[in-house]
Amino acid sequence: MKTATLYGNPRYTIGEISPMMYSSFIEHLGRAVYTGIYQPGHPTADKDGFRKDTMEAIQALGVPMIRYPGGNFVSCYDWKDGIGPREKRPRRLEYAWSSIETNQFGIDDFCRWAKKAHVEPMIAVNLGTGSIIDAGHLVEYCNHPGGTYWSDLRAQNGSPEPYGVKYWCLGNEMEGSWQAGHLSAEDYTKKALEAAKIMRWVDPAIKLIACGSSYEMLPTYLEWDRIMLDQLLDQVDYLSTHSYTMNAGQGDTNFLAAYKALDTHIKNSRRVVEYVKARKNSTKELGICLDEWNVWNFQDIELKSLDDLLSLTTFKITSAGRWEVAPPILQEKYSLLDALTVGGLAISLLKNADSVKIACLAQLVNVIAPITTAADGGVLKQATYYPFEVVSALGHGTVLDTRITAPTYACQFGDLPVVESVTVLNEETGEVYVFALNCDPAEEVRLTLELETGYTLTRHQALFGDDLKAINTFENPQNVTMRDLTVEGGAQATLPKLSWSALTYRKG
Ligand code: AHR
Repeated sequence: MKTATLYGNPRYTIGEISPMMYSSFIEHLGRAVYTGIYQPGHPTADKDGFRKDTMEAIQALGVPMIRYPGGNFVSCYDWKDGIGPREKRPRRLEYAWSSIETNQFGIDDFCRWAKKAHVEPMIAVNLGTGSIIDAGHLVEYCNHPGGTYWSDLRAQNGSPEPYGVKYWCLGNEMEGSWQAGHLSAEDYTKKALEAAKIMRWVDPAIKLIACGSSYEMLPTYLEWDRIMLDQLLDQVDYLSTHSYTMNAGQGDTNFLAAYKALDTHIKNSRRVVEYVKARKNSTKELGICLDEWNVWNFQDIELKSLDDLLSLTTFKITSAGRWEVAPPILQEKYSLLDALTVGGLAISLLKNADSVKIACLAQLVNVIAPITTAADGGVLKQATYYPFEVVSALGHGTVLDTRITAPTYACQFGDLPVVESVTVLNEETGEVYVFALNCDPAEEVRLTLELETGYTLTRHQALFGDDLKAINTFENPQNVTMRDLTVEGGAQATLPKLSWSALTYRKG
């Protein structure tokens, strides 16, 4: 059997894990909102039309914060369409996803839903087709106590208490030509700066997230961030970047190794921040906000080439027609292999805990999501739900700066240790958690944890199986899930071939 040893010392750390690390994202896209979290008349719906079954599945994931309302959607969205009496709200063509937006769910509904779900709302303003004063008005509507047009309108619409929304995204993916109202880095910088100014005038306590670059294939990748941060470094609190991993025929081994690509992606954003800081001789703390990350296999998107993404002229969604209400689009079905890859990506997030201060799994319900709902039925937890649930439950505390000795395997990123892992020390529980991905397709790996002080393995939860294509369905909902493995005592764990494990250790 192959062996690997993980060396560490609780004194040598990478950083504290931010409580916002396990956040997520709900966009007005497909069935995320309508028949996802909101469905009046559903047997589990409460008086506000919120599905309790969906809410329970979300709460079980331990998601602290949810980004809303988009995504690409936000760049065509007028938030004022979604407030006030429902019968008066306009029904509009939703350009970003070729759907019909009924506006039956809007900002008040989301903030109410978030309160019931015990999650913090994170709101994106429209800096594509929207104006900077609209952004200011939205902050006023949400956060001003009262006595003004917008704050009194909120009270009239049923919420006298301000929502106190703290986290605000200054637009979404403004680097991309697919974004309505896409801007050059220079033009975005000017608009974001003015929006930030107004939004902060309204509420100085808010935290602002600026769009960085997300797509390596764009010629502006990172150069966008440099130009923007040159002006905005001191005006914003976080730099946003997105990262989707696609299984596009690169082979299972290379796909599983996506944790390496995400690690590089995060470090690239961090490098550009450090570069701008160095030029300015600045000590400003600017967190990375990875506000969209996931596996996304484009199962219903027809792309003839990557250029389609840039022009969007031949970009086609195959699972629904155009101009439908809540069409069943981007409803990715996740396999065991996808779930293992998500587990690997989560390891990369944690290994970068010193810079990643917010991360949002994109998305949460029905759309590239761990949770699927049936409009006429219940809720299904997809394969990807399980590693996220475990890491979000256990992954709190300090990430240790460990080193591993292990045999290597060859992938598109070079020769990497066959076990990718991260170690978390939780002072409160007195436990250490190791999340480990065994990339070996044929062999188990015996992993030993060697910390300065001795630790004993008390629980081993693992995700593995012979059929990498296995998925969960409403008929067979537990087909892919975490399983508890026998623990033999000592500091050793046997990682099954091609598996993702969560290992719990106690001192002694
Ligand atoms: O999450 C789906 C889409 O992916 C979002 O709308 C956009 O921001 C990203 O490109």
